[in-house]
Amino acid sequence: MRRVWVLLPILVRVVSSQYFTQLPLSESPGSDFIPDDPVAKAIVSRALKDGIVLSEFAFTGPALREIVFWSRFNASQFPRSLLEPAKKSTAIDVHAHYAPRWYGDIRQDPTEWTLRDHLVHMRNHSITESVFSVPNPNIFLGDEKATRAIARLLNENMAVLVQVLPRRFNFFATTPLPHVHGSITEARYALESLGALDVALSSNHEGLYLGDTLFTPFFSAMDNSRAIIFVHPTEASLVVNHTFVKANPTIHSPVLAEFYFETARTFLDLAISQTLANFTNLDFIISHLGGSFPSIIDRGIPPGPVLDEVMVALRTRCWWDSAGLTYGHQLGGLLAYNISPSYLLCGSDHPYVPSALVPAASEAIAASPFLNEQEKLQVRAGNAQRLFGGRKRRETV
Ligand SMILES: *[C@@H]1O[C@H](CO)[C@@H](O)[C@H](O)[C@H]1NC(C)=O
Ligand SMILES: *[C@@H]1O[C@H](CO)[C@@H](O)[C@H](O)[C@H]1NC(C)=O
Ligand SMILES: *[C@@H]1O[C@H](CO)[C@@H](O)[C@H](O)[C@H]1NC(C)=O
Ligand SMILES: *[C@@H]1O[C@H](CO)[C@@H](O)[C@H](O)[C@H]1NC(C)=O
Repeated sequence: MRRVWVLLPILVRVVSSQYFTQLPLSESPGSDFIPDDPVAKAIVSRALKDGIVLSEFAFTGPALREIVFWSRFNASQFPRSLLEPAKKSTAIDVHAHYAPRWYGDIRQDPTEWTLRDHLVHMRNHSITESVFSVPNPNIFLGDEKATRAIARLLNENMAVLVQVLPRRFNFFATTPLPHVHGSITEARYALESLGALDVALSSNHEGLYLGDTLFTPFFSAMDNSRAIIFVHPTEASLVVNHTFVKANPTIHSPVLAEFYFETARTFLDLAISQTLANFTNLDFIISHLGGSFPSIIDRGIPPGPVLDEVMVALRTRCWWDSAGLTYGHQLGGLLAYNISPSYLLCGSDHPYVPSALVPAASEAIAASPFLNEQEKLQVRAGNAQRLFGGRKRRETV
Protein backbone atom coordinates (compact mmCIF):
# COMPACT_ATOMS: atom_id res chain seq x y z
CA MET A 1 0.00 0.00 0.00
CA ARG A 2 1.45 3.32 -1.06
CA ARG A 3 1.35 5.74 1.81
CA VAL A 4 0.80 9.17 0.39
CA TRP A 5 -0.59 11.21 3.19
CA VAL A 6 -3.23 13.73 2.45
CA LEU A 7 -2.76 16.84 4.49
CA LEU A 8 -5.47 18.03 6.75
CA PRO A 9 -8.34 20.37 6.63
CA ILE A 10 -7.48 21.87 9.96
CA LEU A 11 -7.52 25.48 10.84
CA VAL A 12 -5.56 26.11 13.94
CA ARG A 13 -6.90 23.48 16.25
CA VAL A 14 -5.93 23.99 19.80
CA VAL A 15 -7.08 20.87 21.51
CA SER A 16 -8.54 21.60 24.89
CA SER A 17 -6.83 18.86 26.84
CA GLN A 18 -9.15 19.80 29.70
CA TYR A 19 -11.92 17.70 28.19
CA PHE A 20 -9.78 14.62 27.99
CA THR A 21 -8.44 14.70 31.49
CA GLN A 22 -11.98 15.19 32.74
CA LEU A 23 -13.33 12.40 30.60
CA PRO A 24 -14.20 9.29 32.61
CA LEU A 25 -12.69 6.16 31.05
CA SER A 26 -16.18 4.85 30.27
CA GLU A 27 -16.69 7.72 27.80
CA SER A 28 -13.83 6.71 25.51
CA PRO A 29 -13.27 3.43 23.67
CA GLY A 30 -10.92 1.10 25.53
CA SER A 31 -7.73 0.12 23.73
CA ASP A 32 -7.76 -3.47 24.99
CA PHE A 33 -11.19 -4.28 23.62
CA ILE A 34 -11.18 -7.15 21.12
CA PRO A 35 -14.02 -6.82 18.62
CA ASP A 36 -15.03 -10.47 18.82
CA ASP A 37 -18.50 -9.13 18.85
CA PRO A 38 -21.73 -9.66 16.88
CA VAL A 39 -21.91 -5.99 15.82
CA ALA A 40 -18.37 -6.11 14.40
CA LYS A 41 -18.92 -9.50 12.75
CA ALA A 42 -22.13 -8.35 11.09
CA ILE A 43 -20.34 -5.31 9.66
CA VAL A 44 -17.51 -7.44 8.29
CA SER A 45 -19.91 -9.86 6.62
CA ARG A 46 -22.17 -7.14 5.17
CA ALA A 47 -19.06 -5.46 3.70
CA LEU A 48 -17.94 -8.76 2.17
CA LYS A 49 -21.29 -9.02 0.35
CA ASP A 50 -20.45 -5.70 -1.30
CA GLY A 51 -16.92 -6.89 -2.21
CA ILE A 52 -15.15 -5.02 0.60
CA VAL A 53 -12.63 -7.16 2.52
CA LEU A 54 -12.31 -5.29 5.80
CA SER A 55 -10.06 -7.93 7.38
CA GLU A 56 -7.20 -6.93 5.04
CA PHE A 57 -6.54 -3.61 6.73
CA ALA A 58 -4.78 -2.61 9.93
CA PHE A 59 -7.21 0.28 10.47
CA THR A 60 -10.19 -2.09 10.61
CA GLY A 61 -9.54 -3.27 14.20
CA PRO A 62 -9.47 0.21 15.75
CA ALA A 63 -12.42 1.28 13.59
CA LEU A 64 -14.54 -1.70 14.65
CA ARG A 65 -13.67 -1.11 18.30
CA GLU A 66 -14.90 2.47 17.95
CA ILE A 67 -18.09 1.27 16.24
CA VAL A 68 -18.79 -1.41 18.85
CA PHE A 69 -18.18 1.16 21.57
CA TRP A 70 -20.81 3.56 20.20
CA SER A 71 -23.24 0.76 19.46
CA ARG A 72 -23.30 0.05 23.23
CA PHE A 73 -23.12 3.62 24.42
CA ASN A 74 -25.90 4.95 26.63
CA ALA A 75 -26.00 8.74 26.48
CA SER A 76 -28.12 9.06 29.60
CA GLN A 77 -24.90 9.34 31.63
CA PHE A 78 -24.70 12.93 30.32
CA PRO A 79 -26.69 15.70 32.01
CA ARG A 80 -30.05 16.66 30.49
CA SER A 81 -28.73 20.14 29.80
CA LEU A 82 -26.41 18.59 27.21
CA LEU A 83 -28.84 16.05 25.80
CA GLU A 84 -31.86 18.29 25.28
CA PRO A 85 -31.83 21.03 22.64
CA ALA A 86 -32.07 24.68 23.70
CA LYS A 87 -35.65 25.94 23.96
CA LYS A 88 -35.36 28.80 21.48
CA SER A 89 -33.26 30.18 18.66
CA THR A 90 -32.12 26.75 17.60
CA ALA A 91 -29.97 25.92 14.59
CA ILE A 92 -29.49 23.01 12.19
CA ASP A 93 -25.77 22.64 11.51
CA VAL A 94 -25.31 21.07 8.07
CA HIS A 95 -21.53 21.38 8.17
CA ALA A 96 -20.27 19.48 11.21
CA HIS A 97 -17.52 16.90 11.13
CA TYR A 98 -16.90 13.66 12.91
CA ALA A 99 -13.23 12.82 13.41
CA PRO A 100 -12.77 9.39 14.98
CA ARG A 101 -9.29 8.59 16.28
CA TRP A 102 -8.77 5.61 13.95
CA TYR A 103 -9.36 7.88 10.95
CA GLY A 104 -7.15 10.64 12.36
CA ASP A 105 -4.40 8.05 12.90
CA ILE A 106 -4.30 6.90 9.28
CA ARG A 107 -4.26 10.44 7.95
CA GLN A 108 -1.97 11.77 10.67
CA ASP A 109 -4.50 14.32 11.83
CA PRO A 110 -4.41 15.15 15.54
CA THR A 111 -7.92 16.67 15.57
CA GLU A 112 -9.83 15.33 18.55
CA TRP A 113 -13.54 14.67 18.51
CA THR A 114 -15.38 13.73 21.68
CA LEU A 115 -19.08 13.42 22.28
CA ARG A 116 -18.90 15.63 25.34
CA ASP A 117 -17.08 18.41 23.49
CA HIS A 118 -19.55 18.16 20.62
CA LEU A 119 -22.57 18.35 22.92
CA VAL A 120 -21.08 21.36 24.71
CA HIS A 121 -20.50 22.97 21.30
CA MET A 122 -24.16 22.32 20.40
CA ARG A 123 -25.38 23.72 23.70
CA ASN A 124 -23.11 26.77 23.50
CA HIS A 125 -24.39 27.67 20.05
CA SER A 126 -28.02 26.54 20.41
CA ILE A 127 -27.65 23.85 17.76
CA THR A 128 -30.60 21.46 17.72
CA GLU A 129 -29.23 19.12 15.12
CA SER A 130 -25.76 18.32 13.76
CA VAL A 131 -25.32 16.67 10.39
CA PHE A 132 -21.93 14.95 10.44
CA SER A 133 -19.75 14.29 7.44
CA VAL A 134 -16.27 12.94 6.69
CA PRO A 135 -16.13 13.62 2.98
CA ASN A 136 -12.64 12.33 2.24
CA PRO A 137 -11.90 8.58 2.44
CA ASN A 138 -9.00 8.98 -0.05
CA ILE A 139 -6.08 8.48 2.30
CA PHE A 140 -4.21 5.78 0.36
CA LEU A 141 -4.37 7.40 -3.05
CA GLY A 142 -4.74 4.97 -5.93
CA ASP A 143 -5.77 2.10 -3.65
CA GLU A 144 -9.39 1.28 -4.44
CA LYS A 145 -9.76 -1.51 -1.89
CA ALA A 146 -8.50 0.63 0.99
CA THR A 147 -10.59 3.62 -0.08
CA ARG A 148 -13.76 1.52 -0.21
CA ALA A 149 -12.96 -0.02 3.18
CA ILE A 150 -12.41 3.39 4.78
CA ALA A 151 -15.65 4.75 3.30
CA ARG A 152 -17.59 1.73 4.59
CA LEU A 153 -16.10 1.96 8.10
CA LEU A 154 -16.78 5.70 8.25
CA ASN A 155 -20.41 5.13 7.28
CA GLU A 156 -20.89 2.32 9.80
CA ASN A 157 -19.18 4.51 12.40
CA MET A 158 -21.36 7.57 11.73
CA ALA A 159 -24.49 5.41 11.68
CA VAL A 160 -23.91 4.07 15.21
CA LEU A 161 -22.88 7.50 16.46
CA VAL A 162 -26.16 8.96 15.17
CA GLN A 163 -28.06 6.28 17.08
CA VAL A 164 -26.62 7.64 20.32
CA LEU A 165 -28.84 10.73 19.91
CA PRO A 166 -31.06 10.03 16.92
CA ARG A 167 -33.18 13.14 17.30
CA ARG A 168 -30.17 15.43 17.26
CA PHE A 169 -27.60 13.74 15.03
CA ASN A 170 -27.64 12.92 11.36
CA PHE A 171 -25.00 12.15 8.75
CA PHE A 172 -24.06 12.47 5.12
CA ALA A 173 -22.66 9.26 3.63
CA THR A 174 -19.02 9.09 2.58
CA THR A 175 -18.44 7.80 -0.96
CA PRO A 176 -15.23 6.19 -2.25
CA LEU A 177 -14.91 8.20 -5.47
CA PRO A 178 -13.12 8.11 -7.92
CA HIS A 179 -14.30 4.47 -7.84
CA VAL A 180 -17.71 4.95 -9.40
CA HIS A 181 -19.16 1.47 -9.09
CA GLY A 182 -18.07 1.21 -5.45
CA SER A 183 -19.46 4.68 -4.77
CA ILE A 184 -22.90 3.84 -6.14
CA THR A 185 -22.93 0.66 -4.02
CA GLU A 186 -21.75 2.53 -0.94
CA ALA A 187 -24.17 5.44 -1.31
CA ARG A 188 -27.12 3.05 -1.75
CA TYR A 189 -26.06 1.00 1.25
CA ALA A 190 -25.64 4.09 3.44
CA LEU A 191 -28.93 5.67 2.31
CA GLU A 192 -31.05 2.53 2.37
CA SER A 193 -29.55 0.43 5.16
CA LEU A 194 -27.78 2.89 7.45
CA GLY A 195 -30.28 5.76 7.31
CA ALA A 196 -27.82 8.37 5.98
CA LEU A 197 -29.56 11.68 5.37
CA ASP A 198 -27.70 12.24 2.09
CA VAL A 199 -24.28 12.08 0.46
CA ALA A 200 -21.01 14.00 0.91
CA LEU A 201 -18.34 14.42 -1.78
CA SER A 202 -14.95 16.10 -1.90
CA SER A 203 -14.10 18.85 -4.38
CA ASN A 204 -11.69 16.41 -6.02
CA HIS A 205 -11.13 12.71 -5.54
CA GLU A 206 -7.53 11.79 -6.42
CA GLY A 207 -7.22 14.84 -8.64
CA LEU A 208 -10.46 14.27 -10.55
CA TYR A 209 -13.03 17.08 -10.31
CA LEU A 210 -16.71 16.37 -10.03
CA GLY A 211 -17.62 17.27 -13.63
CA ASP A 212 -15.33 14.49 -14.96
CA THR A 213 -17.24 12.26 -17.38
CA LEU A 214 -16.06 9.26 -15.34
CA PHE A 215 -18.45 10.42 -12.61
CA THR A 216 -21.56 10.87 -14.79
CA PRO A 217 -22.98 7.37 -13.95
CA PHE A 218 -22.60 8.21 -10.27
CA PHE A 219 -24.55 11.47 -10.59
CA SER A 220 -27.12 9.68 -12.71
CA ALA A 221 -27.63 7.08 -9.93
CA MET A 222 -27.84 9.83 -7.30
CA ASP A 223 -30.34 11.70 -9.48
CA ASN A 224 -32.53 8.58 -9.48
CA SER A 225 -32.36 8.62 -5.66
CA ARG A 226 -33.17 12.37 -5.61
CA ALA A 227 -30.10 12.88 -3.42
CA ILE A 228 -28.77 16.01 -1.83
CA ILE A 229 -25.01 16.26 -2.41
CA PHE A 230 -22.90 18.08 0.16
CA VAL A 231 -19.61 19.17 -1.45
CA HIS A 232 -16.63 19.85 0.78
CA PRO A 233 -13.26 21.18 -0.38
CA THR A 234 -10.05 19.22 0.04
CA GLU A 235 -6.46 19.80 -1.02
CA ALA A 236 -5.69 19.79 -4.72
CA SER A 237 -3.46 16.94 -5.86
CA LEU A 238 -1.53 16.45 -9.07
CA VAL A 239 -0.08 13.32 -10.61
CA VAL A 240 3.64 13.96 -11.17
CA ASN A 241 5.84 11.17 -12.47
CA HIS A 242 3.11 8.61 -11.61
CA THR A 243 2.91 9.79 -8.02
CA PHE A 244 0.29 11.93 -6.32
CA VAL A 245 1.66 15.17 -4.94
CA LYS A 246 -0.32 17.72 -2.98
CA ALA A 247 -0.54 21.05 -4.74
CA ASN A 248 -0.38 24.07 -2.52
CA PRO A 249 1.94 26.64 -4.08
CA THR A 250 1.83 29.00 -1.10
CA ILE A 251 3.38 28.79 2.33
CA HIS A 252 -0.09 29.16 3.89
CA SER A 253 -2.38 26.42 5.12
CA PRO A 254 -4.55 25.11 2.27
CA VAL A 255 -7.66 25.90 4.27
CA LEU A 256 -7.02 29.64 3.98
CA ALA A 257 -7.27 30.05 0.21
CA GLU A 258 -6.86 26.70 -1.56
CA PHE A 259 -10.12 25.34 -0.14
CA TYR A 260 -12.02 28.26 -1.66
CA PHE A 261 -10.33 27.73 -5.04
CA GLU A 262 -11.14 24.02 -4.85
CA THR A 263 -14.85 24.74 -4.47
CA ALA A 264 -14.58 27.12 -7.43
CA ARG A 265 -12.76 24.51 -9.56
CA THR A 266 -15.22 21.76 -8.92
CA PHE A 267 -18.40 23.84 -9.37
CA LEU A 268 -16.99 25.39 -12.54
CA ASP A 269 -16.40 21.81 -13.71
CA LEU A 270 -19.93 20.74 -12.70
CA ALA A 271 -21.31 23.79 -14.54
CA ILE A 272 -19.32 23.47 -17.80
CA SER A 273 -19.86 19.69 -18.01
CA GLN A 274 -23.58 20.44 -17.52
CA THR A 275 -23.75 17.94 -14.66
CA LEU A 276 -25.35 20.70 -12.60
CA ALA A 277 -28.01 21.42 -15.24
CA ASN A 278 -28.72 17.88 -16.51
CA PHE A 279 -29.50 16.10 -13.26
CA THR A 280 -32.50 18.11 -12.20
CA ASN A 281 -33.40 15.91 -9.21
CA LEU A 282 -30.16 16.76 -7.42
CA ASP A 283 -29.73 19.48 -4.83
CA PHE A 284 -26.24 20.61 -3.82
CA ILE A 285 -25.01 22.04 -0.54
CA ILE A 286 -21.96 24.18 -1.29
CA SER A 287 -19.55 24.72 1.59
CA HIS A 288 -18.47 28.15 2.82
CA LEU A 289 -21.06 30.12 0.80
CA GLY A 290 -19.59 28.70 -2.41
CA GLY A 291 -15.96 29.61 -1.62
CA SER A 292 -14.55 31.51 -4.62
CA PHE A 293 -17.05 30.05 -7.05
CA PRO A 294 -19.45 33.03 -7.19
CA SER A 295 -16.62 35.39 -8.11
CA ILE A 296 -15.61 33.37 -11.19
CA ILE A 297 -19.05 32.66 -12.69
CA ASP A 298 -19.07 35.76 -14.94
CA ARG A 299 -15.65 34.91 -16.34
CA GLY A 300 -15.87 31.12 -16.41
CA ILE A 301 -19.23 30.60 -18.11
CA PRO A 302 -19.94 32.95 -21.04
CA PRO A 303 -23.46 34.34 -21.54
CA GLY A 304 -25.68 31.87 -23.39
CA PRO A 305 -27.88 28.85 -22.80
CA VAL A 306 -25.34 27.02 -20.58
CA LEU A 307 -25.03 29.99 -18.25
CA ASP A 308 -28.81 30.40 -18.19
CA GLU A 309 -29.27 26.77 -17.12
CA VAL A 310 -26.48 27.02 -14.58
CA MET A 311 -28.10 30.10 -13.05
CA VAL A 312 -31.43 28.30 -12.77
CA ALA A 313 -29.67 25.42 -10.98
CA LEU A 314 -27.78 27.79 -8.69
CA ARG A 315 -31.00 29.64 -7.78
CA THR A 316 -33.28 26.65 -7.29
CA ARG A 317 -31.19 23.58 -6.35
CA CYS A 318 -28.08 24.92 -4.65
CA TRP A 319 -27.78 25.73 -0.97
CA TRP A 320 -24.95 27.66 0.62
CA ASP A 321 -23.62 26.95 4.11
CA SER A 322 -22.18 29.62 6.36
CA ALA A 323 -19.18 27.63 7.69
CA GLY A 324 -16.12 29.72 8.47
CA LEU A 325 -16.23 33.48 8.66
CA THR A 326 -18.23 34.07 5.49
CA TYR A 327 -20.71 36.80 6.37
CA GLY A 328 -18.43 39.84 6.70
CA HIS A 329 -18.35 40.76 3.00
CA GLN A 330 -18.47 37.52 1.01
CA LEU A 331 -22.25 37.10 1.20
CA GLY A 332 -22.83 40.28 -0.86
CA GLY A 333 -21.06 38.75 -3.87
CA LEU A 334 -23.19 35.61 -3.76
CA LEU A 335 -26.52 37.42 -3.37
CA ALA A 336 -25.59 39.73 -6.27
CA TYR A 337 -26.38 36.78 -8.57
CA ASN A 338 -30.02 37.03 -7.46
CA ILE A 339 -29.64 34.02 -5.24
CA SER A 340 -32.38 34.06 -2.65
CA PRO A 341 -31.42 34.27 1.04
CA SER A 342 -33.90 31.43 1.53
CA TYR A 343 -31.15 29.08 0.21
CA LEU A 344 -28.65 29.98 2.93
CA LEU A 345 -27.85 27.33 5.55
CA CYS A 346 -26.00 27.25 8.82
CA GLY A 347 -22.64 25.46 9.27
CA SER A 348 -20.13 25.47 12.13
CA ASP A 349 -17.27 23.32 10.72
CA HIS A 350 -16.71 21.97 14.24
CA PRO A 351 -14.26 20.54 15.30
CA TYR A 352 -11.95 21.84 12.54
CA VAL A 353 -12.95 25.40 13.23
CA PRO A 354 -12.48 25.81 16.97
CA SER A 355 -15.70 26.45 18.84
CA ALA A 356 -14.23 29.73 20.05
CA LEU A 357 -14.49 31.15 16.51
CA VAL A 358 -18.14 30.21 16.10
CA PRO A 359 -19.44 33.26 18.04
CA ALA A 360 -17.55 35.55 15.62
CA ALA A 361 -19.29 33.76 12.74
CA SER A 362 -22.70 34.15 14.44
CA GLU A 363 -22.01 37.82 15.13
CA ALA A 364 -21.13 38.35 11.46
CA ILE A 365 -24.50 36.82 10.48
CA ALA A 366 -26.28 39.00 13.05
CA ALA A 367 -24.52 42.13 11.75
CA SER A 368 -24.93 41.34 8.05
CA PRO A 369 -26.27 44.30 6.04
CA PHE A 370 -27.42 41.90 3.30
CA LEU A 371 -30.22 40.14 5.19
CA ASN A 372 -33.25 41.30 7.16
CA GLU A 373 -34.05 39.85 10.60
CA GLN A 374 -36.51 37.29 9.29
CA GLU A 375 -34.00 36.07 6.71
CA LYS A 376 -31.31 35.74 9.38
CA LEU A 377 -33.62 33.62 11.48
CA GLN A 378 -34.33 31.34 8.53
CA VAL A 379 -30.59 30.79 7.97
CA ARG A 380 -30.42 29.11 11.37
CA ALA A 381 -33.00 26.41 10.75
CA GLY A 382 -35.99 27.24 8.55
CA ASN A 383 -34.17 26.94 5.24
CA ALA A 384 -32.63 23.58 6.19
CA GLN A 385 -36.05 22.33 7.30
CA ARG A 386 -37.37 23.24 3.86
CA LEU A 387 -34.47 21.40 2.19
CA PHE A 388 -34.67 18.23 4.28
CA GLY A 389 -38.32 18.42 5.26
CA GLY A 390 -39.82 16.31 2.53
CA ARG A 391 -37.24 13.58 2.91
CA LYS A 392 -37.65 10.23 4.50
CA ARG A 393 -35.94 10.60 7.82
CA ARG A 394 -34.43 7.95 10.02
CA GLU A 395 -36.88 6.32 12.37
CA THR A 396 -36.27 8.01 15.67
CA VAL A 397 -36.10 5.80 18.70
C1 LIG B 1 -29.60 3.90 29.67
O1 LIG B 1 -29.40 4.22 31.02
C2 LIG B 1 -30.60 4.66 31.67
C3 LIG B 1 -30.24 5.19 33.06
O2 LIG B 1 -29.07 4.63 33.54
C4 LIG B 1 -31.61 3.53 31.71
O3 LIG B 1 -32.80 3.93 32.34
C5 LIG B 1 -31.92 3.11 30.28
O4 LIG B 1 -32.76 1.99 30.27
C6 LIG B 1 -30.61 2.77 29.54
N1 LIG B 1 -30.94 2.52 28.15
C7 LIG B 1 -30.52 1.45 27.52
C8 LIG B 1 -30.93 1.33 26.07
O5 LIG B 1 -29.85 0.59 28.04
C1 LIG C 1 -18.66 26.54 25.71
O1 LIG C 1 -18.81 27.75 26.40
C2 LIG C 1 -17.96 27.85 27.54
C3 LIG C 1 -18.36 29.12 28.31
O2 LIG C 1 -18.35 30.21 27.44
C4 LIG C 1 -16.52 27.85 27.07
O3 LIG C 1 -15.65 27.93 28.17
C5 LIG C 1 -16.23 26.57 26.31
O4 LIG C 1 -14.93 26.59 25.77
C6 LIG C 1 -17.22 26.38 25.18
N1 LIG C 1 -16.98 25.07 24.61
C7 LIG C 1 -17.38 24.69 23.41
C8 LIG C 1 -16.97 23.34 22.93
O5 LIG C 1 -18.07 25.39 22.68
C1 LIG D 1 10.38 9.50 -11.79
O1 LIG D 1 10.40 8.45 -10.85
C2 LIG D 1 11.43 7.48 -11.11
C3 LIG D 1 11.22 6.31 -10.14
O2 LIG D 1 10.93 6.77 -8.86
C4 LIG D 1 12.80 8.14 -10.96
O3 LIG D 1 13.80 7.21 -11.22
C5 LIG D 1 12.88 9.29 -11.96
O4 LIG D 1 14.09 9.99 -11.78
C6 LIG D 1 11.71 10.25 -11.76
N1 LIG D 1 11.73 11.25 -12.80
C7 LIG D 1 11.63 12.56 -12.56
C8 LIG D 1 11.61 13.43 -13.77
O5 LIG D 1 11.51 12.99 -11.43
C1 LIG E 1 -25.69 17.13 -20.35
O1 LIG E 1 -26.54 17.21 -21.47
C2 LIG E 1 -25.92 17.76 -22.64
C3 LIG E 1 -26.99 17.96 -23.71
O2 LIG E 1 -27.87 16.89 -23.77
C4 LIG E 1 -24.81 16.82 -23.08
O3 LIG E 1 -24.14 17.36 -24.22
C5 LIG E 1 -23.81 16.68 -21.94
O4 LIG E 1 -22.80 15.75 -22.28
C6 LIG E 1 -24.51 16.22 -20.67
N1 LIG E 1 -23.54 16.20 -19.57
C7 LIG E 1 -23.61 15.34 -18.57
C8 LIG E 1 -22.54 15.42 -17.53
O5 LIG E 1 -24.51 14.53 -18.43
